[in-house]
Amino acid sequence: MSPEDQSPVTRGAKFVGVLVALRAAARAVRGRAPGSPPPAPESDVDPSRRTVPANPRMEALVGVLLVAAAAFGFAFTVIYIVASANTQLLGIAMGGALCLLAVACIVAGKFVVPQETHVEERGPLLDEEQTEEVVTMVGEGGEGISRRALLVGAGGVAGVAVLTASAAPLASLGPTLNPLHQTPWARGVRLVDDQGRPFRAGDIHIGTFYTALPEGKDPESFGAGVLVVRLPAEFIQLPAARRDWAPDGILAYSKICPHAGCAISLYRYPTYAPTSQVPAFTCPCHYSTFLPGEGGRLVFGPAGRALPQLPLVVDGEGHLRAAAGFHEDIGPSWWGVHRAQS
Ligand code: FES
Repeated sequence: MSPEDQSPVTRGAKFVGVLVALRAAARAVRGRAPGSPPPAPESDVDPSRRTVPANPRMEALVGVLLVAAAAFGFAFTVIYIVASANTQLLGIAMGGALCLLAVACIVAGKFVVPQETHVEERGPLLDEEQTEEVVTMVGEGGEGISRRALLVGAGGVAGVAVLTASAAPLASLGPTLNPLHQTPWARGVRLVDDQGRPFRAGDIHIGTFYTALPEGKDPESFGAGVLVVRLPAEFIQLPAARRDWAPDGILAYSKICPHAGCAISLYRYPTYAPTSQVPAFTCPCHYSTFLPGEGGRLVFGPAGRALPQLPLVVDGEGHLRAAAGFHEDIGPSWWGVHRAQS
């Protein structure tokens, strides 16, 4: 593994190990250096100095702790690769690695690394005359400030600004909005054609289909286009919860095929009742076929679900409006895009 591939915990453990090894090597070299001064007699040793004798058991313990920390660090990497969604395991692995590393450092500091304290005699920092000088200078330091309230206020504002800037990243916490759950359709949005002209209920005729867009919204946005048809009552068998979604027999559905996302552009309408089948939308890509009269039910093809429906109302001026957004997510049904039907 290259150094770039090592986890921070592993590199930290190695760094501590190297420091301990270098320290031990330095001590050994000092002990063998020719001409080095003889050890101070017992009476000359500073009483505040404490030396730690070699403790093989503690050294071994530190080694075990560092290896365990490294194991937890590697475990974090492995878990991140194979099960990155399991944040509990990730937390345990990283927390374990950091805790073990901390314990190793504590044990090494207490029992392995020599503790030496040197005391140096030092005279008073300032004599009496110098102290008076400093007091005078400090006193004069504030004499040039005539707008103390202004500076205090500005300092307070700066402090608040810094605190606000520090807290601003908190706004980035929490779940992100998945654009695949968003469409421009919502309650009250009027249906218009590609010229921006509102659709009236009377404009929708049996036997053909229309593509409508949301008034005032980006026509290129995800889910903007909807299919609109009018069906005779005998072809309409909506689920009970959707009985009022089709005013005057007019129904609207997402234009995006829930198979692979193609635009649905074919509409079949019975021309000879004894032999024809019921009205249906068909996707030209792989021929998934949906029944608008039955809530967009899938009757043929590889799409994994029904066509999402947009509930409609007719306003006081006879214009078609959305009564709400789509009843479920639109688009291909992969990657968890399909939300449970409400
Ligand atoms: S994309 Fe519509 S059937 Fe495949």
